[in-house]
Amino acid sequence: MVTAEEIRAAAEIIRSGGLVAFPTETVYGLGANACDTAAVRKIFALKGRPASSPLIVHVASIEQARALAAEWPKQAQQLALKFWPGPLTIVVPKKPLIPDSVTAGLQTVGLRMPKNEIALALIRESRVPIAAPSANRFTQLSPTTAQHVRDAFGSEAPMILDGGPCEVGLESTVVAIVEGRVEILRPGMLMVDQAIKALPKNNSGTAHRSPGQHEKHYSPRTKLILVTAGNLPQQGRGAYLVRRVADGPNATCERLVQMPSDAAEYAAQLYKTLHDLDREGFDWIAVELPPQSAEWAGILDRLRRAAFGSSLG
Ligand code: TXA
Ligand code: MG
Repeated sequence: MVTAEEIRAAAEIIRSGGLVAFPTETVYGLGANACDTAAVRKIFALKGRPASSPLIVHVASIEQARALAAEWPKQAQQLALKFWPGPLTIVVPKKPLIPDSVTAGLQTVGLRMPKNEIALALIRESRVPIAAPSANRFTQLSPTTAQHVRDAFGSEAPMILDGGPCEVGLESTVVAIVEGRVEILRPGMLMVDQAIKALPKNNSGTAHRSPGQHEKHYSPRTKLILVTAGNLPQQGRGAYLVRRVADGPNATCERLVQMPSDAAEYAAQLYKTLHDLDREGFDWIAVELPPQSAEWAGILDRLRRAAFGSSLG
């Protein structure tokens, strides 16, 4: 799908201060050399993202991560050994090598080694760590295909490495190591809770504030509402995402979309489904409230944000 030639060209763009969109196992990223302030500013400008939202820095090895961290607590090492490459971002104190523009002025940096061969090849070939948020405009849906990235940026789109659809489909789990404790800043599809509990001398916590976690985020243009018991809006044309058709609507909806009942499969399809429905001009997209269990926490978090501010439901 992506040739060695394309990787070399993309790496050259990164080294010369430009932007490249690339696949990861979670969502597509919009990358720049994390050590180049001017390059990093281009990410914020293209996305329309406020400077107060820190970026995740992508690395190709634990050694590369350690070289960017002022401290690398043993919990970070344990989590990295267990979950990297994978959908886990670890926030640790940063070295001055990482500019403040990347971290929104914080003295910490979020580091992640993605589980995607194209992403890893790009980082290695660039020979620099790559700062990358999701490759979408600010507050819009994250991209899980190269076409989503093209649609988001149109004629402003940078070079895009097309690695096909993302396997995980939901942004990484973000944890911080704060005074020896592991805190979950953003839930994702990786169930770190168990692993965290297994770490020595550790209390895990949740719901620590993470900058850049805006309430309205990850939204389709169409109004999204979370519903229970098939309670759909009575007016307008709508689509309904339901996990079991037997639990279907008690009101009319133009489109009934059967979603997987397995959380991982659901996550892999969610953004693509919303991107597709968004193009159809519905008045609303209703989503059946997912279960409250740990496997669904990341999905529920994103759906709540996508629904934020909706007056219905
Ligand atoms: O899966 C992902 O994480 C994707 C792919 C491209 O890696 N990236 C992604 O980036 O979702 P973005 O920019 O959309 O979300 C990054 C979030 C920030 O909004 C913030 O909540 C958290 O990661 N974050 C990053 N650096 C942080 C820091 N130093 N302290 C606390 N939170 C941080
Ligand atoms: Mg994002």
